[in-house]
Amino acid sequence: MNKNLRKVVIAGNWKMNKTATETKALLAEMKEKLPQTDATILLCVPAINIGTAMESVKGTAINIGAQNCHWAKNGAFTAEISADMLNDFGVKYAIIGHSERRQYFGETDETVNKRAKACLESGISPIICVGENLDEREKDITKDVIRVQIEKGLADFTAEDMKNSIIAYEPVWAIGTGKTATAQQAEEVCAYIRELLAGLFGNETAQAVTIQYGGSMNAKNAAELLAMENIDGGLIGGASLKAEDFATIVSCAN
Ligand code: 13P
Repeated sequence: MNKNLRKVVIAGNWKMNKTATETKALLAEMKEKLPQTDATILLCVPAINIGTAMESVKGTAINIGAQNCHWAKNGAFTAEISADMLNDFGVKYAIIGHSERRQYFGETDETVNKRAKACLESGISPIICVGENLDEREKDITKDVIRVQIEKGLADFTAEDMKNSIIAYEPVWAIGTGKTATAQQAEEVCAYIRELLAGLFGNETAQAVTIQYGGSMNAKNAAELLAMENIDGGLIGGASLKAEDFATIVSCAN
């Protein structure tokens, strides 16, 4: 399988932005501006706005996703949200293990693994985030960091689980900084991730997995990044909050 046969997924991560009212307005603008595409378009909104967003995109090709998901089926986990709750809303994708969750909310590779498995059990595709920080890149240990995140994050996954998952490579130093990885830097790590997946699940499975790049992807640099052999989509923060920019990124995927 080559790049052309993999599913291209252009996903926005709205992080903690937009009220319900603003969500409706931005989605109305997105519906007007987004081009026709074969790529999967996904917007991961704050959990409280998933219902509103689902309503707004009804009948369009826009998918609404979550930014996190708890690992338990239900129970005494105040403020948490389960995979079944997301599934009941029609959510098909959830970001898991974003670096901001790891940095500010104590997320570890073990909890990433548990959350991702809970998603899979409820028919939700986890978008599992990995990435090195600046210190790790400067120490030239990027691949070691990624290998541990992949091996632990995907512990006990079957090949089928892997085929239903997406990996997002997001170098922490490139997130929200305006400092994008070069297409070559991003491709090198995404190719390495695919190599790791081949070792764990076999080449056929590895070739089928969508690997996204995220970190200051924008309307100007998207085309070059998305053209790389092992980059099958984007996970976009800031630029996904602007309909025009997000539309340009989607058009780069065509
Ligand atoms: P930015 O595109 O704002 O750098 O954010 C990337 C990101 O964290 C997406 O999950």
